[in-house]
Amino acid sequence: MAIELWETLKESITVYTGLSTATFFTVIALGLALYYVVSEFFSSSSSQAQYQRSRASEEEVQPLPPPVQLGEITEEELRGYDGADPDKPLLMAIKSQIYDVSQSRMFYGPGGPYALFAGKDASRALAKMSFEDSDLTSDLTGLGVFELEALQDWEYKFMSKYVKVGTIKKTVPVTDKSTTPETAL
Ligand code: HEM
Repeated sequence: MAIELWETLKESITVYTGLSTATFFTVIALGLALYYVVSEFFSSSSSQAQYQRSRASEEEVQPLPPPVQLGEITEEELRGYDGADPDKPLLMAIKSQIYDVSQSRMFYGPGGPYALFAGKDASRALAKMSFEDSDLTSDLTGLGVFELEALQDWEYKFMSKYVKVGTIKKTVPVTDKSTTPETAL
């Protein structure tokens, strides 16, 4: 019975494919081997890619430490938070309010397009939409109403996006006793 079946199969193979039985099975075996090799190649390269992707995302998505409240600090101290030290938070101030902008290291970190604002109160620069060094100050003297409005918009943006971590300590200029408010009145 089995032999009959085998003979019929051999005959059909020759009739339908025009190949001898040996050639037919060799072609099938080669096809399977090729399929195995190709699928093995793709699955190993994709799992390698997955591994690399997961490693890359592990490196990129390091959770940021929670913002640390600093209270009042001087402008001088603020400069130490310009992102040069990756272990310190990245800070920036608007209108003497200091914000932790560490989450936007790509903007304010070293080499970023707005790195010049890091560690500074850049109110004047933001109000004037200026990148001039001389505008990297909290001094708003002589600014117009539109510039002050622009600054206000920046402040709202920062308030909603970043955590406020402190304020800039105002350095009180030493003045003559005769010009103090009490005596002036
Ligand atoms: C050609 C002119 C400019 C272009 C095309 C531009 C483009 C951009 C873009 C695409 C962003 C990212 C916005 C986001 O994803 O939230 C951005 C952010 C910002 N831009 Fe500009 N900008 C320009 C000029 C300026 C100027 C003149 C200033 C100030 C002097 C400025 C200050 C900022 C700041 C501070 C941020 C970051 C805000 C944040 O922390 O979310 N930009 N800008």
